Amino acid sequence: MKRNLLAGLALLAAAAAGAATLAVQPDKLEVARLTADGKMQKPGDLDHWVFLGTSLGMGYNPGSFNAARPGQFQVALMEPSAYRYFVEHGSFAPGSMFLLSFYDADTQARSINQNGFTQADLTNYEIHLIDPDHQEGHGFYMFAPDSTTGTPVGPGSACVRCHVQHGAFNGTFAQFYPTIRPRIPREALEKALQDHDIR
Ligand code: HEC
Repeated sequence: MKRNLLAGLALLAAAAAGAATLAVQPDKLEVARLTADGKMQKPGDLDHWVFLGTSLGMGYNPGSFNAARPGQFQVALMEPSAYRYFVEHGSFAPGSMFLLSFYDADTQARSINQNGFTQADLTNYEIHLIDPDHQEGHGFYMFAPDSTTGTPVGPGSACVRCHVQHGAFNGTFAQFYPTIRPRIPREALEKALQDHDIR
């Protein structure tokens, strides 16, 4: 009897310890560094972020693609701990960050390139932070190529509106990113791929 009681107590203690371990597991990635006035410090490890996808001359209105001026390359990357969390859980941890970098398309026949487009210099970049503390759940920050801090986009912006309405997965355009596209729910992907109306 006494032995059973002790064993029971040991089990309870183990359960409590387990609960405590669960409670301290990081459910928010504390990677983004925000300044007191709400700007974002440029993450120091952008060159280690995970490649998600690239688009060229992405346009939101019906129009003709002009091969002489194809627009910009847009390269999407994801912060590595956020990517690992997504692969393990199938969802974005609060605090996940995404980068979109803009490069002009070099249309000249440079070096050995005769017909295609290569990436010219970086013109600017933007970071999307999944942020439950933000009134809209999403923070967007804009950086010039040489900025060390990014300026937040104010509330009620077109950024949040378009992303939440047309992004396939939690306000991101996962439908365009081959690295994570196979891991989002099929219905969400199908719905986004049928959605051609930007209004
Ligand atoms: C009309 C729709 C639209 C608006 C408005 C918009 N975006 Fe996006 N955004 C996109 C699309 C489409 C992508 C997919 C990336 C691409 O271009 O290949 C994207 C991708 C991104 C990404 C990469 C991560 C992600 O969430 O998919 C960031 C960062 C981003 N946008 C920032 C911004 C910021 C900052 C603004 C406002 C200044 C903004 N966007 C406004 C459509 C929009």
